[in-house]
Amino acid sequence: MQTLGEFLISTQQKHPKSTGEFSRLIHALRLAAKVVSHEVNKAGIVDILGDAGATNIQGEAQQKLDVFAHDLFIKALTNRNIVCGIASEEAEDFIQVNSPSERGNNYVVLIDPLDGSSNIDVNVSVGTVFSIYKRITPLDYDVSIEDFLQPGTNQVAAGYILYGTSTMLVYSTGDGVNGFTLNPAIGTFYLSHPNIKLPSDGHIYSLNEANFLTFPDAIKQYLLDRKKQDSQYTTRYIGSMVSDIHRNMFKGGIFLYPSNAKSPNGKLRLMYECNPIAFLIEQAGGLAISMNKRILEISPKTLHQRTPFFCGNKEMVEILLEYLT
Ligand code: AHG
Ligand code: MN
Ligand code: MN
Repeated sequence: MQTLGEFLISTQQKHPKSTGEFSRLIHALRLAAKVVSHEVNKAGIVDILGDAGATNIQGEAQQKLDVFAHDLFIKALTNRNIVCGIASEEAEDFIQVNSPSERGNNYVVLIDPLDGSSNIDVNVSVGTVFSIYKRITPLDYDVSIEDFLQPGTNQVAAGYILYGTSTMLVYSTGDGVNGFTLNPAIGTFYLSHPNIKLPSDGHIYSLNEANFLTFPDAIKQYLLDRKKQDSQYTTRYIGSMVSDIHRNMFKGGIFLYPSNAKSPNGKLRLMYECNPIAFLIEQAGGLAISMNKRILEISPKTLHQRTPFFCGNKEMVEILLEYLT
């Protein structure tokens, strides 16, 4: 089976002008993924579970592993002359990577270092989500906020790492979606799931239905109608978005995080969660929307903005769209 390293070399050869900068970036993410995977797997026996005693910019309690994963991805990306800037869900401002050589790098990375924080302590799968853009400001200048606030359609690549029963790296550069599984014994990712496509049909819907009473009316009606369909639908909701999306990628399904009284704009973050997942879902043949707009076409206003988020099999999202328009 092809390794991730071999896969990167073969894809780079298809682009003769490539400088290898993008491959080095994926190598750095791969390295950080392996370290986080190792830590997550032994979390129960080392002092890395629980609350870190701080809150992030969004007022959410940070878990020790949130902070650990954030620091690790930042280190992996800043110590290697790879990117010119990074924005993380766990930090208020973007990080300018400032050495003279790095100012000449092309890419910025936006990252949710650890997705599914509430599941860490109870040994349920968590993930990392990343999104990569080419900078807009000229090379050799400081990066600025406009390099980060680009619509999702500009993503050069996006992906997630799932720390589950096995650790997987799933990513796309806009030419289909490929999944790599880590063999932990030798620390190598193998191309286990080439060219992932959503099944044409799905029966799963995934959401936190406890918020039902304060969902928009259209969403309430959509859900009530799904229940009428004589057990054609089933619910699966882990509460780690990466895990819920990964399952739906293979089994087919729709994932919903609507606005509700607690989260008037939805809970999920456009730049760190929705855009990268929307990019993957579309590359796998599905659709991703925010109410009646394509997620990837939203013009972002701030780094940490939230949006209602619905994605999954094309047919399933199209049915939802009929309720929203
Ligand atoms: P994070 O751990 O990065 O803050 O993200 C948690 C998100 C996402 O993973 C999940 O889908 C959602 O929160 C679950 O929210 P609810 O508990 O409101 O259902
Ligand atoms: Mn998250
Ligand atoms: Mn997170």
